Amino acid sequence: MEAKLKQANISKEEALKLRENFKTNYLETWAKLAKENIFFKEEFTEILDDSSKPEYKWFLNGKTNISYNCLDIHLPDKAEKTALIFEDEAGNSEHISYKELHQRVIRFSAYLKDIGIKKGDRVCIYMSLCPESIIAMQACMRIGAIHSVVFAGFSAHALRDRINELEAKVLITQNGFTRKNKSIELFKAASEAILENDSVTNLLLFERMKNNNELNSRTEKLISELDIKVNLVEEEIRDNKYQDIEKLSSIEPEWLESNETSFILYTSGSTGKPKGIEHATAGYLLWTKLSSKWVFDLKDDDIYWCTADIGWITGHSYVTYGPLANGATQLIYEGAPNSPEPNRFWELIEKYKVSIFYTAPTAIRSFAQWGLEYIEKHDLSSLRLLGSVGEPIGSETWNWFYEHIGNSKCPIVDTWWQTETGGVMITSLPGAEAAKAGVAGPALPGISAEISPESLLYISKPWPSMLKGIYKNPERFHQAYWSKIEGSYLPGDLASQDEDGYISIGGRNDDVINISGHRMGTAEIETALAKSPLVSESAVVAIPHAIKGQGLVCFVILSENTSNDSEDKQKELSQKLSEHICYEIGAHARPEKIISCPALPKTRSGKVMRRLLQEIAQGKEPSGDISTLEEKSILKDLLKNI
Ligand code: WT7
Repeated sequence: MEAKLKQANISKEEALKLRENFKTNYLETWAKLAKENIFFKEEFTEILDDSSKPEYKWFLNGKTNISYNCLDIHLPDKAEKTALIFEDEAGNSEHISYKELHQRVIRFSAYLKDIGIKKGDRVCIYMSLCPESIIAMQACMRIGAIHSVVFAGFSAHALRDRINELEAKVLITQNGFTRKNKSIELFKAASEAILENDSVTNLLLFERMKNNNELNSRTEKLISELDIKVNLVEEEIRDNKYQDIEKLSSIEPEWLESNETSFILYTSGSTGKPKGIEHATAGYLLWTKLSSKWVFDLKDDDIYWCTADIGWITGHSYVTYGPLANGATQLIYEGAPNSPEPNRFWELIEKYKVSIFYTAPTAIRSFAQWGLEYIEKHDLSSLRLLGSVGEPIGSETWNWFYEHIGNSKCPIVDTWWQTETGGVMITSLPGAEAAKAGVAGPALPGISAEISPESLLYISKPWPSMLKGIYKNPERFHQAYWSKIEGSYLPGDLASQDEDGYISIGGRNDDVINISGHRMGTAEIETALAKSPLVSESAVVAIPHAIKGQGLVCFVILSENTSNDSEDKQKELSQKLSEHICYEIGAHARPEKIISCPALPKTRSGKVMRRLLQEIAQGKEPSGDISTLEEKSILKDLLKNI
């Protein structure tokens, strides 16, 4: 393991020193790191303002710009260095240097300004993982517009709800892209999402799928039916005024005060309504930059590959921002891991000599299932560091990853964090701290992770990349994260700690579930089901799933006039409700099973007993105390239906 990490960015001694510095001089250590790592147009005057906690303010009165810190600062010495290597599923590829990326970002940001986008305006991005979507995010940052990326797998309905709450002025999308050999027509969903909306003034359309006549004529028809302006971005940006790079370079980026909002990203909570997590500017930038450097040990000659989509926080912090802030070269891939064959990832690693590979346990479990024959024919010797994120990896999957992908030579960083935390919070530092299989690791230097007697993980000190709030919902921000343990942030995960201070994450302590690394709320699925006329009540639970980590099982009470007496009828209903969930949320929320039942097991106070349903969903006889169950006969009925 050592051979691959001779000179880690953080050595054992440096890690100890950093920890010591944070212990004795918490705020000063952060301030020093901020000054060393971020370009501030105007220096901050106060490190942390905690006068109105939990609305903490970091690096007060500092002025900076995230995109400037990702691109402009590299131009003097890294202009020709490759920033992005892009490959789509068909195998078309593109190398984009820092200079070119900078030019494309300033061009697009000038264009956004020309169509009337100003600082503070919300811009919704509904796109695949491709250079254009990263450019769109960076361009928003440059002009201080607040982007909100909606994962391309979300349905038109889910997109609509987010656009409406954001009161977004612009929706940026593309005609489509190819995944698993299928065309995903994003423009179709995007145009449906803005049908009943009065905030969006422009729909910006990238023609990512070129020369597809059928798609073009469908798109033209949709455009003619819309009553808002659709801008064909590539065409308009060809205008002469966007070619004068020198002139465009002279336009100052928008210098944001450290605490102004940089972006909003929706994530699931324990109610039916997703939360718009709002991030600030300087603190977010500092920690995504530093944690990328420390955790992924980024070096100038690395080829870094994080497989996350820009629709999730990992794609923000460890694709669009952190690696670029460090001047790294990174690979981005738009397609599926098993297209055309299950060896695609290994082919990409070999082809581009990827040295750092960051992915999710659900993907690793699929690789293991697909078989070693797809791996063995590829040379993966360029790899030197592996990373995992999104859900507990478990020691079996950890060992498989270590042995078969890392050839028992690469350290693994199992990174625990959340949309809300902005960056990694818990993991072992490669080169300084040995990893343990299936254990996330110690909290990173500067992060104060602790565990309550009830096994609740909490963060006892504010940290720079912490969320600044929930969009339009300060009460929920206070209640969801800050109300249980005085003065501490509560992520909602269960954890335990060993004698070396290493933390194991034991899953969630609320009704948030994790399907293939996608965070979802059971209440969100129940809310979606309630919108179907076929359903009068439902309860959704998660059960263990070999590949996805967790899978969904929905118990539904059908509305009175819906009959499901025959087996065929039952099947048809399941199918319909399954499609309904995909329609309301997206295909990633497709349940494993839908079980119709005459009643739900409830306590005398009317609370659904989820623990019982979880057991029943797995075909087990309910165990434990059922004395609070109001009607015991319900259990028999339920078990009959499994
Ligand atoms: C939830 C956050 C972190 C970015 C991607 C997901 C779970 C995340 C780990 C890990 C065990 C993990 C937690 C957390 N989680 N990483 N390494 N080990 N659990 O971000 O969608 O906000 O989900 O994912 O339960 O709370 P997210």
